[in-house]
Amino acid sequence: MSGPNTDYDPVEVTPLKSEEVEAARDAALAAIAGATDLEALKAVRIDHTGDRSPLALANREIGALPPQARKEAGQRIGQARGAVNQALAARQALLEREHEERMLVEETVDVTLPTDRVPAGARHPITTGSEMIADIFVAMGWEVAEGPVIEAEWLNFDALNLGPDHPARTMQDTFWTDPTENHVVLRTHTSPVQARTMLTREPPIYVVCPGRVFRTDEYDATHSPVFHQVEGLVVDEGITMAHLKGTLDHFASSMFGEGITTRFRPSYFPFTEPSAEVDLTCFVCRGAGRTDDGSSCRTCRGEGWIEWGGCGVVNPRVLTACGVDSERYSGFAFGMGIDRTLMFRHGIDDLRAFFEGDIRFTTAFGSDIS
Ligand code: PHE
Repeated sequence: MSGPNTDYDPVEVTPLKSEEVEAARDAALAAIAGATDLEALKAVRIDHTGDRSPLALANREIGALPPQARKEAGQRIGQARGAVNQALAARQALLEREHEERMLVEETVDVTLPTDRVPAGARHPITTGSEMIADIFVAMGWEVAEGPVIEAEWLNFDALNLGPDHPARTMQDTFWTDPTENHVVLRTHTSPVQARTMLTREPPIYVVCPGRVFRTDEYDATHSPVFHQVEGLVVDEGITMAHLKGTLDHFASSMFGEGITTRFRPSYFPFTEPSAEVDLTCFVCRGAGRTDDGSSCRTCRGEGWIEWGGCGVVNPRVLTACGVDSERYSGFAFGMGIDRTLMFRHGIDDLRAFFEGDIRFTTAFGSDIS
């Protein structure tokens, strides 16, 4: 920087000469106009407005001028710098806009193109349905219990008051494993989990047991050799059939909505006494037996009720066989088909849909979270 210059002669202060300032300004404007992308403009900005640029150097010289000359020089340089800064800002805006427009074109994604990604699929409706059912009971403080699908004959039958010659054994067409002398079956119902629970826990017992079961049934729209049941078991002091009815009514309305309840019809199971078949209010006609146009409801065949499962007060002989003091404790149990329950709930008319693995079915019903 030059020292104080009292004998002011503009010729001596070269950077401040008006031609010099104009030349620096014009050079800057030309460079700005010539910058074709943001990188280039950045370099131009440094060269023409940075600390070492001619205009910045000239600006610094102003202080060295005699006071009477400062104003005019200041104006001249200020105007030149203003023009350069304006041109820079305008060019910057233009180049940014161009850049964005180019990106939009270059990075365009055609969302209508077919994807080559493998569909993620969904959890199986039986899995989500079983969890939904278990949740209803867990919310009442019950626990979830599980047992093996390959089961000892004694637990599947004998412990449940179904001795070897009991006629009710033929109600459940059984898959036996080889060799039959081992007395091992594919469980025909989830009731052996009752026996297992009582043998390993002290009352009070409140458990729900969803699981897979097997019977030598035909494979058709309403039968399958493998299907799913959910078992409920309560053993506590003072348990009556009224607790069973209240529990199943709550299960029904939680699963199918307000106003859907149950009715009991007398029945027989060796492991419960008394025993009942449980019917559910028909969720289509809501118990009326006929639809809005007056015709008989097809879902319940005009009954207003549909069969749902079996239940009863635990037979004291079962309590005793499983080591529970039947003088002190009583209990109730029930068993429902999970597949059947979900068929009702979702309006599925063919049981086989659960077992054929069509992803359109699993995605639609397995993602149900309501
Ligand atoms: N286990 C019976 C069946 O599979 C259902 C049931 C369970 C009945 C519990 C009464 C009590 O048919």
